Amino acid sequence: MRSLLMLSTVVLAPSLAVAQAKKEIVPIPIAKIERKEPIAYEKDIEPIFYKKCITCHSGNVKEGRYDISTYEGAVKGGRRGAAVVPGKAEASNIIKLGTKSEKPFMPPRGEEPLTSEELGLIKLWIDQGAKAPTTSGPRKLQYIVSVPPANVHPVRALAVSPDKAAVAAGRGNQIHVYDAGSGAYIRSFYAPGLKTPDGKDVKAAHLSIVESMAWSPDGKYLVSGSFQEIAIWDAHTGMLRHKIGGFAHAVVAMTFSLDSKLLAVAGGEPTVEGEIKVYEVPSWKQIVDIKNGHSDTVYGICFSPDNKMIATGSADKFVKVWEIPSGKFVKAFEGHTHHVLDVGWAADGKLLASAGGDNTVKVWNFEKGEQERTINAHGKQVTRLLFIGKKNEFLTCGGDNQVKAFNTAGGTIRNFPGGTDFIYAVGTSPDGAVVAAGGQDGIVRVYNGNNGTLLKSLLPPDAQPKEKSPEKK
Ligand code: HEC
Repeated sequence: MRSLLMLSTVVLAPSLAVAQAKKEIVPIPIAKIERKEPIAYEKDIEPIFYKKCITCHSGNVKEGRYDISTYEGAVKGGRRGAAVVPGKAEASNIIKLGTKSEKPFMPPRGEEPLTSEELGLIKLWIDQGAKAPTTSGPRKLQYIVSVPPANVHPVRALAVSPDKAAVAAGRGNQIHVYDAGSGAYIRSFYAPGLKTPDGKDVKAAHLSIVESMAWSPDGKYLVSGSFQEIAIWDAHTGMLRHKIGGFAHAVVAMTFSLDSKLLAVAGGEPTVEGEIKVYEVPSWKQIVDIKNGHSDTVYGICFSPDNKMIATGSADKFVKVWEIPSGKFVKAFEGHTHHVLDVGWAADGKLLASAGGDNTVKVWNFEKGEQERTINAHGKQVTRLLFIGKKNEFLTCGGDNQVKAFNTAGGTIRNFPGGTDFIYAVGTSPDGAVVAAGGQDGIVRVYNGNNGTLLKSLLPPDAQPKEKSPEKK
C-alpha cells in the first residue's frame, strides 16, 4: 500500500508543482455520478480510502485520531468530530477537506489528491445515507497463513493405499508415508519451493496443517487439503503434480469417485458458507462449484455408488445430496443436533450414514429421504465415518479416543483398541483388511481390519526407531 502511494506521488509531482507555483488552491470539483444501483461501501468507497488515506489513518498512525480502516471509524471521524454526516455530503469533513475547500486539505500536500470521480462517489455514498458494507459483498476476511510450530504433531488426516501396501499420514504440515506391512517409514512428500509469506524456505507438503487426504482408488494419486489449497501428488514417487488454490478456507474433506475419474473437495469459511467443488481427473478441471449449498463449513463429502451424485455434511447440521455435474439440489436430511462431521454412502445406494458432533451416527434412507436410525456411536463427537468397500459396514472414530466398526443396522461389529487421545482420522483399504487411525497423540495405529488386532504404531519419522517399529499397547 505504502509503495503504491509513493509511486503515485512521483507520477503526480509535476501537476502539483504547477498548482503550488500559482499559490492558489482551487477546490477540486465533484463529478456528478449517474448510477442506478446504490453505492456499495465495500466496493466503491473502501478501495479509495485504502488507496489514498490508509497509510496515515490506520494502525499506529491515526492522524487527527482518525481511523479510516473500518467503516465505523471512517464515519466516526477524529479530533474534529464526525467525518461523515449521513445524507449531508457538503457538511461532511471528508468532502470539505477532500475537495480542498477547507483546511487541513486531505490528503495533505505532496500526496495524490482525490479525483473528481472519487469525490463524486464519496458524495453520492454520503447523500444516500452513508450505508454500511453488506456482509454478502466481496469483502473477504484477510487470513494470514502461518506455519504450524515444529512440535505440532497431531494426525488430522490419513489414507490407506488401495493395494494395502502403504499408509499416508498428514501430521502438522507434513505428509509421512509408511509401509503398511512392516510399519517402516518410506518417505515424506515435499512441495518444492515452498516459502513462508516472509520468504523463508519451508520443507513440508503445505505451509499450513494437512486437514484432509484421499488416495485415488486406482492408486495413482494422493491428494492433500490444507488452508485454501489442495495438492495432488504422484502416489508412487511423491512428486507434486499439481496444486489448486483459491479456496475460501481450509479444505477439510475430499474423496475420489470409485472410478477415480472425479475428485470432490469440501470446506468453506466457518459460519459463512460451505464450499463444494468437483474436479475431473487427471485434467483437474473444475466441473462443479456449488455455491450457498450450506451455510457453514462442509466437513464431509462422498459420492453415490454410481458416481452421479454427491452427499455433503455440514456444520449447519444438514446432510444434503446434489446431482453432478449439474450441481442441482436433490434432497436434504435433517436430524443432527450438532455439526455433521462426515457422511458416507452404502454401496447398494440405498442408505447413507452421517457422523455428528452430537456423538451419534444417523442412518438415512435415501429414497424415502428419512432417518432410519440413530446410533449412539461415541462418547464424544464422531469425527469421521467411512464405508468399507462394498459392505454395509462403516468405520467411525471420535473425540472419545475410540475407533469402531458398525453395520447399518446399528450393531457394533468391532472395536479397534489403543487410542489414548482425540482421534481425527480413520482410513481403510477397500476390502477392509487394513484399517488405520490417527489423532492428537500423533501416532497412526494400523490394525487388522478383520479382527481389530493392533499391528503397528507409526510414529513421526524423527521418533521412529530405525530397526523395528514399536508395538505400542
Ligand atoms: C500523508 C498522510 C495523510 C494522508 C495520506 C491522509 N491524511 Fe488525513 N490527516 C492527516 C493529518 C496529519 C491530519 C491531521 C491534520 C490536523 O489535525 O491538522 C489528518 C486529518 C484528517 C481528517 C480530520 C480528522 C479530524 O477529525 O481531525 C480527515 C477527515 C482526514 N484526514 C481525511 C483524510 C482522507 C479522506 C484521506 C484520503 C483521501 C486522508 N485524510 C489522507 C494526514 C493524512
